[in-house]
Amino acid sequence: MHGEINLLDLVFEPYLTENQIAARVNEMGRAIKIDLDGRRPVFISILSGSFVFAADLIRAVETDLEMAFVKLSSYAGTTSTGEIQTMMGLTENLEGRHIVVVEDIVDSGRTLHFFLHKMREKKPASLSVAAFLVKPSALQFDIEIKYKGFEIPNDFVVGYGLDYDGLGRNLPGLYQLKKG
Ligand code: IMP
Ligand code: MG
Repeated sequence: MHGEINLLDLVFEPYLTENQIAARVNEMGRAIKIDLDGRRPVFISILSGSFVFAADLIRAVETDLEMAFVKLSSYAGTTSTGEIQTMMGLTENLEGRHIVVVEDIVDSGRTLHFFLHKMREKKPASLSVAAFLVKPSALQFDIEIKYKGFEIPNDFVVGYGLDYDGLGRNLPGLYQLKKG
């Protein structure tokens, strides 16, 4: 198929164009403005994957807002609970603020489940999620995603900030792993 790309050992095919993405992200921005206009929301981008989406999203929200970034890292723990996650970079006082968590993709939902729990402890006035992509059939946690870009099948995608082994983040469109 035309427009296929190779990243390391894998072949990907076009899934969403740059224009389709831009149109949807602009709609999301307008929806967020309607809900949070004049409340000076704090957008928190979960790094690394969401930085491209976050950059476009905030420019589509035409109201005063602040931007913050957080890096989450996970490693295999020695306890039976398995995964332990830590949070780096978030120093802002978020009490009484309107938080919009910006995530590139919600797969199992584990990352967001953990992060939203941490955010609730900071006593925000409101807490919502803007996710560029959601894989509904992979979801294992009960998470409310107020602003959803696209629902996609449970297949691996790259581009628009999402990577395969570090590559593909700079692709303007979204690509899906080619099967077979
Ligand atoms: P979750 O915690 O299972 O929801 O996974 C979320 C994280 O896994 C995302 O923030 C991505 O970094 C990564 N991820 C999940 N699916 C994909 C994909 O299809 N392509 C690239 N990264 C993905
Ligand atoms: Mg991520």
